[in-house]
Amino acid sequence: MAKKKDKKAKKKDKASKAARKLELKVVAKKKAKAAGKAKSNGIVAFKRSTKPWGQDGKALDGVRILDFTHVQSGPTCTQLLAWFGADVMKVERPGVGDITRGQLQDVPNADSLYFTMLNHNKRSITLDSKSKQGMKVLERLVQTCDVLVENFAPGALDRMGLTWEHIHTLNPRMVVASVKGFGPGPYEDCKVYENVAQCAGGSASTTGFHDGPPLVTGAQIGDSGTGLHLALGIVAALYQRNRTGRGQRVLASMQDGVLNLCRVKLRDQQRLAHGPLKEYTQYGQGIPFGEAVPRAGNDSGGGQPGVILKCKGWETDPNAYIYFITQAPVWEKICDLIGEPGWKTHPDYAKPPARLPRLKEIFGRIEQWTMTMTKFDVMNACNALDIPVGPILSMKELAEEPSLRESGTIVEVDHPTRGKYLSVGNPIKLSDSISEVTRSPLLGEHTDEILSKVLKFTPREIAEIKASGATGEAPKAQAAE
Ligand code: COA
Repeated sequence: MAKKKDKKAKKKDKASKAARKLELKVVAKKKAKAAGKAKSNGIVAFKRSTKPWGQDGKALDGVRILDFTHVQSGPTCTQLLAWFGADVMKVERPGVGDITRGQLQDVPNADSLYFTMLNHNKRSITLDSKSKQGMKVLERLVQTCDVLVENFAPGALDRMGLTWEHIHTLNPRMVVASVKGFGPGPYEDCKVYENVAQCAGGSASTTGFHDGPPLVTGAQIGDSGTGLHLALGIVAALYQRNRTGRGQRVLASMQDGVLNLCRVKLRDQQRLAHGPLKEYTQYGQGIPFGEAVPRAGNDSGGGQPGVILKCKGWETDPNAYIYFITQAPVWEKICDLIGEPGWKTHPDYAKPPARLPRLKEIFGRIEQWTMTMTKFDVMNACNALDIPVGPILSMKELAEEPSLRESGTIVEVDHPTRGKYLSVGNPIKLSDSISEVTRSPLLGEHTDEILSKVLKFTPREIAEIKASGATGEAPKAQAAE
């Protein structure tokens, strides 16, 4: 009897296991069908897009950004997100807008290149955030958007009434991303611009020549560099939100961003404790090291001796130069190329440590060779042998470079008030989310569109908002607030 029962139970168990297996199979099949196609080996083959390569939507399609940024750092970040397909709505002060609209103006009564080149692919809504109606619109924007990006002076957002707590209550899914000059600490309340960040983040103390003053670089590592950092933080926070359902704060401080980009100099600071930095030119010159990493001129940061050398035409062309690195793996090829085959085996030149005290003489000899050719000829000759060199390209040369136009890195954009101009397009290429660069918005160009189509205010509400002056100058008879 017991045996019979046991058999029955086993049979039942087997049947339920089989049913469960079938159920799992059906679920898996359904899932696979929803996503693509299930192959017999269990690997899901996603359906191929029917659209041409790279034309199937955008990476950040559906992400709405409340862009409360100005000047350079914040706008760099939101422009990148817009290029990846986010709907970026830039909130600007009525009548004034982002201060850069009027800075460094080259065409009268037209938005400056400073503004247009940092605000492509965005919409503009004008709002006085300090008015009652303006705040009503802002709060609706907070409820509608996924991300708020701002780079006001510390405390400005709180003073407007948009504290993190208030935003989080209005929309717990919202990511709130900020650029500030400094992170928490003694300088957290300071206002900061590009060069302040370069100086405070370690770049200036390590840029320039050993016997000269600190220098800032032309690359906007404080502003645009921090904007880039912030964009990555936002995308990461959005990804985490998929799991938690919750927004979070993202902070990118300009000092932190610059220091991150100066990482190799903090490396060298610690190496100093164990002896002189032998790859620095000053070592070969017999100049002692102090307590802090010195400025290293044009020395290569990677530890391979490198300098900028003159090329043909240097007497009249300020950019007829090339960066040359005496990389150990290609040393023998360099010797052949410059006509010094004997150096390949000579004890003073064959090995990197032997070369270190003789770098001035060695680079002097290489320069004799580079001066016989244009920088492009040097580049061709070296690259044919896998010797990496860097021609000093001017902005003019870059603007005219056909391959950069073809890749969309340099784009020509048309603008209603300034006409055609060149800009740097999206430097990050996604194969399935290609960026088209569209012109920057005129001040308040999309105010009506955003109020009605995005925020769904009724015509009566819109009339009320406008009459209050919150979006610009109020009609005189009705000015209320
Ligand atoms: N309606 C009403 N008021 C607005 C507004 C709007 N739409 N937009 C901004 N404002 C107000 C702010 O609320 C603030 O008012 P408050 O000082 O009374 O609180 C005021 O405008 C000025 O903002 P602020 O950010 O202080 O501008 P600023 O021109 O004085 O300073 C920076 C500019 C860049 C120095 C400063 O914003 C900053 O340090 N930002 C962080 C670091 C940064 O991004 N720096 C690099 C910029 S490229």
